[in-house]
Amino acid sequence: MDWSRRKVFVTGGAGFLGSNLCHALAARGARVTALDGFLFGGGANPRNLDGADIDFVRGDIREIDLRPLCEDASVIFNLAAQTSHMGGQADPLADIAVNAVAQVRLIQAAREAAPDAVVVHASTRQFYGRVEKLPVDERQPVAPPDANGVSKFAGEQYWMLENRVRNRPVVSLRLTNCYGPRLRIRDARQTFLGIWIRCVLEKRPFEVWGGAQLRDLTYVDDVTEAFLAAAEQPACHGQIYNIGGSPPASLHDLAEMVVRLAGGTYVTREFPADRARIDIGSYHADDGAFRAASGWAPRTSLEDGIGRTLDWYRTRLADYL
Ligand SMILES: NC(=O)c1ccc[n+]([C@@H]2O[C@H](COP(=O)([O-])OP(=O)(O)OC[C@H]3O[C@@H](n4cnc5c(N)ncnc54)[C@H](O)[C@@H]3O)[C@@H](O)[C@H]2O)c1
Repeated sequence: MDWSRRKVFVTGGAGFLGSNLCHALAARGARVTALDGFLFGGGANPRNLDGADIDFVRGDIREIDLRPLCEDASVIFNLAAQTSHMGGQADPLADIAVNAVAQVRLIQAAREAAPDAVVVHASTRQFYGRVEKLPVDERQPVAPPDANGVSKFAGEQYWMLENRVRNRPVVSLRLTNCYGPRLRIRDARQTFLGIWIRCVLEKRPFEVWGGAQLRDLTYVDDVTEAFLAAAEQPACHGQIYNIGGSPPASLHDLAEMVVRLAGGTYVTREFPADRARIDIGSYHADDGAFRAASGWAPRTSLEDGIGRTLDWYRTRLADYL
């Protein structure tokens, strides 16, 4: 697909994944409108969009008139979400208002203002819950472990309904843990790796909770490529796909790699009781269906990805605290 001059709407555009996508689209010459409400203590950061040639609108997807933002878009990348699992447990009404109800608002606005737009929806592996068999493909039954998993599943299903009933080309990407530049590193709210990076750069020990759990982290440039490929490939439209990343590694393996690359130390702790109740245990994706349909494959090794992420924050730490 030639992205040059193409009108694109990105929700959640000041967040971690949305901002990286905005940079990639702008670099390809797309005309990008990005919406973000800087809400819920998520990944939004004003620095995330530094240097991106885009139109940014600050607003809440639950309230703002979405029609002018969608107007004539050929692709909508839909990433705005309440993403905190603990936050969703604490305030499930706000969680569902963004992740499900506001999704229906966007669907209705897009029907009027961008009837032909392809929609790539950011979904999550979270709602598979605690699985018994790895790797996980898309036929795995859904068993959300928390309120956020319920609302994210509902939002995805409203979009897929729009595909079935109105023929809207929709692709839903069920992402695993993503990491890289522009990740929120202030605390543990956006993956464990964020706070680990902060701690090693501040020369403090970081905490590993549990340690045996497996994860298949995706580097953000590979996530961006997956979003672009999903929009570009008609074979993907109407489908739900798992997106994986690096070969599975335990949290202990990951901690050792961070220490090898950046120095520092870590301590291993029991999982905090309130988080253990909603923890999903080990996960890694079978993303073969998406690879086959789109030609996508993750290109960044864990070592390179973590190294690049550390380098990125070395010169920008203050902007992310
Ligand atoms: N990062 C990951 O590891 C991961 C994993 C699975 C799924 N996802 C999904 O990918 C998407 C992007 O996640 P992210 O990691 O970039 O998170 P993020 O918190 O950095 O980005 C989400 C953005 O949405 C914005 N937002 C939230 N509510 C809004 C509202 N009512 N109106 C307007 N903007 C609002 C936030 O301000 C934030 O900038 C989300 O849908 C998330 O569920 C991410």
